Amino acid sequence: MDIFIKNIVDLLKAEIPLSEEEIKGLIEIPPDLKMGDFAFPCFAVAKQLKNNPGKISAELAQKLPISDSITDIKSQGPYLNFYVSKEMIFKTVLDEIFTESDFYGSSDSGAGKTAVIDYSSPNIAKHLAVHHLRSAVIGNAIYNLYKTIGYKCVGINHLGDWGTQFGQLIVAFKRWGPDLKGQDSIKETGLDISKLNELYVRFHKEAKDNPSLEDEARDWFRKLEGGNEEAIETWQYFKDISLSEFERVYEKLGIKFDSYAGESFYNNMLNDTVKRIKDAGLSEVSEEALIVNLEEYDMPPCILRKKDDASLYATRDICAAEYRKREYNFDKMIYVVGSEQRLHFKQLFKVLELMGYEWMSDCIHVDFGLVKFKQGKMSTREGKVVLLEELLVESCKIAEEIIDGKNADLENKAEVANDVGIGAIIFSELSTKRVKDVMFDWNEILNFDGETGPYVQYTHARLCSVLRKCGGTVTNEVDYDVFKEDDELLLVKKLESFPLTIIRSAQNCEPSILSKYLLDLCSTFNRFYQHHRILIDDTELKMARILLVDSIRQVIKNGLSILGLKAPERM
Ligand code: ARG
Repeated sequence: MDIFIKNIVDLLKAEIPLSEEEIKGLIEIPPDLKMGDFAFPCFAVAKQLKNNPGKISAELAQKLPISDSITDIKSQGPYLNFYVSKEMIFKTVLDEIFTESDFYGSSDSGAGKTAVIDYSSPNIAKHLAVHHLRSAVIGNAIYNLYKTIGYKCVGINHLGDWGTQFGQLIVAFKRWGPDLKGQDSIKETGLDISKLNELYVRFHKEAKDNPSLEDEARDWFRKLEGGNEEAIETWQYFKDISLSEFERVYEKLGIKFDSYAGESFYNNMLNDTVKRIKDAGLSEVSEEALIVNLEEYDMPPCILRKKDDASLYATRDICAAEYRKREYNFDKMIYVVGSEQRLHFKQLFKVLELMGYEWMSDCIHVDFGLVKFKQGKMSTREGKVVLLEELLVESCKIAEEIIDGKNADLENKAEVANDVGIGAIIFSELSTKRVKDVMFDWNEILNFDGETGPYVQYTHARLCSVLRKCGGTVTNEVDYDVFKEDDELLLVKKLESFPLTIIRSAQNCEPSILSKYLLDLCSTFNRFYQHHRILIDDTELKMARILLVDSIRQVIKNGLSILGLKAPERM
C-alpha cells in the first residue's frame, strides 16, 4: 500500500473510531484535481462521533498535521480533502510499481484470514447453464481479489450432485439407458450430458401415466442415501460424465477450484446436523415433514427432511456451512449465486443464526442478475441456439476473424484469439454491477473500441508495442521532476489508486469496480497518447515517460489477471 494512503490512514486512525481497513475502504479519489488528491467522506463517521459531517471535517482539517508528503488538508463540506506533494507522487508511485511489478496492488490487510468462496456450483446430469458461467466468472474474480489483499482463499464448487432427482435418473437409466455392465470406460457407452437429459425428460413424461415410477425413484434415492452399491455406482457414473464436461469448460475459462465437495459430500453428516437442530428445539413436524418454522421472520419454513426422510438442498447447505466453519475456520464465506436464490440464503442464514452460530454474520450471499441474449436465447451470431461450451468456441472464432483483419501475420494467432475470445466473455460478465442484468450482444462484447475486455487487452498490447519501439529498456532511475503535464499527473494518480480499487472491489465483492477502473485507465492513457509523444529527443523526459508507460502496462496486466483475463503482448 503506497505511502500517501498509508499516511492518511495513520492520521485518521488516531482520530476516528474505524479500523485501518475500513478507512482504506472509504478513501476516495476526487474527480477534480482542485479538490485534492484524496478525500475522506466524514458522513461515514457522523453517527459514531455524534457530530455532523461538516463539523467533523472542519475540526479534522484544523487538527491534523501536514508533512512532506501530505502538504495540505482542507475541509470542503462533509469531505476532508488531502493534497499530496506533486514531486513525491511520481517517484513514490512509479518506483513502487517498478519494484513490485506483478505484485503491485497486493496488500496484507487480509493476512491471517481465510475466505471461503462458493461459486459456479452447477447441478450434475445437466448442461452448465449461463448463470453457472456468470457465477464462475464473478466467483473467480472475487477469489483473486481476496487473494490479492492477503486472504487465504478456498474456492469450492458446491456441485448439485444429490437429491431425489438422482433416484429418478437411476430409474430412467436402468429402464432405457445403455447397459453399463461390461463397459470398462465411460466413453464406450456414448452417454453424455445431453443423453442424461433425455433420460430425465423421458422419466417425467412416462411418470405421468405411470406414477409408480415415482415410488421407484424415491426408493432408489433412499438406497443412494443409504449407500447401496449399485445406486452409488450408477450415480458416480453420472457424476463422472458431468464433471468431464464441466472441467472442459472451466479449463477454457481458466477457472479452478480448490474443492469439489458438492452436496453429496455431506450425506453422512446430515443426521448430526438435523439432530443439532432438533436438540436446540428449533424443528417441528408439519405435514409429516421436518421443518424449521420461520413464520416469525416472515419467511416460508426451511424444510429439513421430507416425509420419506429424504434430505433437501437447504439441509445440505446448513450442514455444508457447519463443515466449512470446522474445516477452514473462515473469516468470510461468500456464496456467489444468482438473485433468484435470495430467499434460500435468507432462510439459511436465519437457521444458522437460530442455531447460535455467531459466525453466520460472516456469511454473505453475493447475488447477481440474469444474462439476457440480444440475439435470442443463448445463440451464435446466426441465431442458432447453442450450449455454453459452443458459445466460448464461437467467441474465439470471431476474435480470430477480427485479429486476422488487423494483424494477419501475428505469430501465435490462435492462442491470442483464444485469450481475446474468452476475455471478451469474461469481461462482459464483470463490467456492469453484478446485480444488474447483462445484455449479451455479439456486436458489443468483441468491440475493440467499446467498454470491453478486448479494448483493455488491445490497449495493453499497444503499450507493449510502444515499449518495444523504445528498445525495451525501462529504468526507475529517472529524473522525476521532468513530469510537468496535467495529463501525466492524472495518469500517475490513477495508477496510485489501483491498490485502493482492489480493496474496494474486494470489500464490496464487486469486480465491476476493477473493470471500470481498467476501462478508465485505458481511456486516460489513450487520450494522453493522442497528445503526447514518448519517443522524443529529450532523453530525460523520454526515459521518464517510458517508465510511466511501463507502469500503466504493468497495472493493466495485474488488473486483467485478477479479473481472470490474459494480457497478450501482441494482438
Ligand atoms: N446448484 C445450485 C444451482 O444450480 C447452486 C448452488 C449454490 N451454492 C450453494 N451452496 N447453495 O442452482
